[in-house]
Amino acid sequence: MDWYKDAIFYETHIRSFKDSSGDGFGDLPGLTSKLDYLVDLGVTVVWLLPFYPSPLRDDGYDVADYTSIDPRYGTIDDFKTLLSEAHRRELRIVTELIVNHTSDQHPWFQRARRAPAGSPERDFYVWSDSPDRYSDTRVIFTDSETSNWAWDPVAGAYYWHRFFSHQPDLNYDNPIVRQAVLDVTDFWLDLGVDGLRLDAVPYLYEREGTNCENLPETHAELKRIRAHLDEHYRDRMFLAEANQWPSDAVAYFGEGDESHMNYHFPLMPRLFLALARGNRGPIEWILDRTPPIPASTQWGIFLRNHDELTLEMVTDEERAEMYEFYAKDPRAKLNVGIRRRLAPLLDNDQRRLRLMFSLLLGLPGSPFIYYGDELGMGDNLDLPDRDGVRTPMQWDSSRNAGFSTAAETFFPVIDDEPFGYQTVNAATAMDDKSSLWHWIKAAIAIRRRHPAFGRGQVEFLHPSDPAVLAFALHYERDSVLVIANLSDSDRRADLGAEGVDEFSGTTYVGQQIEIEPYGCRWITLVPADGATV
Ligand code: NOJ
Repeated sequence: MDWYKDAIFYETHIRSFKDSSGDGFGDLPGLTSKLDYLVDLGVTVVWLLPFYPSPLRDDGYDVADYTSIDPRYGTIDDFKTLLSEAHRRELRIVTELIVNHTSDQHPWFQRARRAPAGSPERDFYVWSDSPDRYSDTRVIFTDSETSNWAWDPVAGAYYWHRFFSHQPDLNYDNPIVRQAVLDVTDFWLDLGVDGLRLDAVPYLYEREGTNCENLPETHAELKRIRAHLDEHYRDRMFLAEANQWPSDAVAYFGEGDESHMNYHFPLMPRLFLALARGNRGPIEWILDRTPPIPASTQWGIFLRNHDELTLEMVTDEERAEMYEFYAKDPRAKLNVGIRRRLAPLLDNDQRRLRLMFSLLLGLPGSPFIYYGDELGMGDNLDLPDRDGVRTPMQWDSSRNAGFSTAAETFFPVIDDEPFGYQTVNAATAMDDKSSLWHWIKAAIAIRRRHPAFGRGQVEFLHPSDPAVLAFALHYERDSVLVIANLSDSDRRADLGAEGVDEFSGTTYVGQQIEIEPYGCRWITLVPADGATV
């Protein structure tokens, strides 16, 4: 039922993962051939970025056809094979439901712009005679757009778009649109996908005098889609993408009747901020402001994904501090964020990488690992927009990183020091027992043995040293304690309990624990309660 609570998510792009046909694009058979790699790491759910026919001006989030597959990635039969091979391995598959907008190349938009004003066909999208409506709405892609309206010469009217101007927003006031989106939902659920990520879900409706985000109408629509899911399908999951302040983000869980999961966007930058400051304050501060969520729901915790590290949910001062610390190369700034992968953000410091993974895998919620971050892959700032964090997966040290036999790959493979595929690749990492990859694999295995990680009640222990973050997670008879030293110097924590270090096997009995710079401990408590640090 609530499998997503114990899940380890792995986000990847079919195009970036493995090319089986030799055309330089990753494809479905390629991904299927690598499922054992994911099982070996301990992953339980694969989230796939959009793979639908698309002009690829927003990497597939500009959908031109919701119910088929870009032929470069494969066929519907290949997708069915992926699903059955994944399910045979007890891996689940989550795909994208891009609910807010389409590409301007989608037949719905091409039809709409030519249809008479006021007709149901025209009203698939949001039109206006003037670009002044809904003026309280922020622009999201600040580096490329100045307005949420774009002029369409064919329609002779402006259309509304929250993202790129080639991505018109669907009009949810039109019941035919609502039904069309439901039909798309059914199409993928009928094929057997286990979950759908609801892209950009806060922006479905527009109302004058509001900021057009999180409107009651949007929540009502989400409840309707969820009721449909519950009526017709079992064991499936909705994952909302709602980049919002905690009080607004929790609304996407409804009363357990909207989405099952939602990412904790405001927490993510604060993990980096806490590390930069060597002080746990920002993490406790935001979790303190996060309201409780319904029992059946779960936060998605992430460090990095396919987008820029968004800084929309921090203050101006914090943003300036983050840019100063993490975006020294000005090319790394994009929109309101930083377009870098995890390892380059952390200067490839293996201690800080492990520490951040210990928070990703330890904090309350279910973790999302971005493909390649388990290897400490780098990025390519010479590529535009967010493409630099979407380069081919580095499998081994052979040509094209073992990703493809093609003369040229869709984006170049990273081949310069220190992140080049010659040294940073899965084969090398798996051969080296001391690698980050093996550490993550071990941490995932520990996590999967202890339901407290995914299901526990969190208790923050506030040690006197602000560089030390310590919290316990309690679930039934299982209790784990996570201690992290966010600073670059040795620290101590007094453990007022008895427990076993899950990584080293060391037993502690109410004693002082020395924690090396950026060190972390996961301790199972015996008996399973009463931790103090
Ligand atoms: C959110 C996706 O994560 C991002 O990659 C995309 O550009 C926007 N939605 C717009 O589709």
